[in-house]
Amino acid sequence: MSDKETLKQNAALAALKFIEPDMIIGVGTGSTVNYFIDALAKKDYRIKAAVASSLATKKKLIQAGIEVMEVNSIDRIPIYIDGADEATEHLSLIKGGGGALTGEKIVAHIADKFICMIDEAKLVPVLGTFPLPIEVLPIARSLVAREMMKLGGNPMYREGFVSDYGNQIIDVYNLEILDPHALEAQINQIPGVVTNGLFAHRGADHLLIAKSSGVEQLNK
Ligand code: 5RP
Repeated sequence: MSDKETLKQNAALAALKFIEPDMIIGVGTGSTVNYFIDALAKKDYRIKAAVASSLATKKKLIQAGIEVMEVNSIDRIPIYIDGADEATEHLSLIKGGGGALTGEKIVAHIADKFICMIDEAKLVPVLGTFPLPIEVLPIARSLVAREMMKLGGNPMYREGFVSDYGNQIIDVYNLEILDPHALEAQINQIPGVVTNGLFAHRGADHLLIAKSSGVEQLNK
């Protein structure tokens, strides 16, 4: 396993301390989350069920023998556990590198606490080096791309990718996101945008940063 993968796994293992018996937990998407699900399956944490943020996570949870509940059947969950593509020390995030941003935002929204797991390379002073994913209705792809160019971004269509909900993704390069709250709201106003990968309004509550020296925790 590469050093980076070891750090992701360490962050995932550190998230296990938030798990309590009989909890219904929200589970994000991605390779860090996959380490978390593997660890959850290995030990008997006796969680009640999980709410999945994507079809891929749902499949992995079922394979691990964990009961999966649909978001529509539940109003609140105590915790949501997920990775991110970039994070600031203010606990704002870019997510959606794996294309599951909409499901992730929905499950994060119904959680009391969002625990985010990253390796140290993803901690940045300013968001935007990682291209910002935007899920769009196919009919609006060019319109959204043009609007993002007006904001100084360089939009690229994620070719060949279709989201769990049949939509497309635009990855926007070249943004220096100094006010993630404002930009998140502004992009969501563009017609045809399903959601964007900024998690500032519902950022993380706890950020677990895996470093070679150990896992550091930042709290909101
Ligand atoms: C998927 C996500 C992931 O959390 C993000 O891409 C991080 O993935 P990984 O843990 O594989 O580095 O937002 O939509």
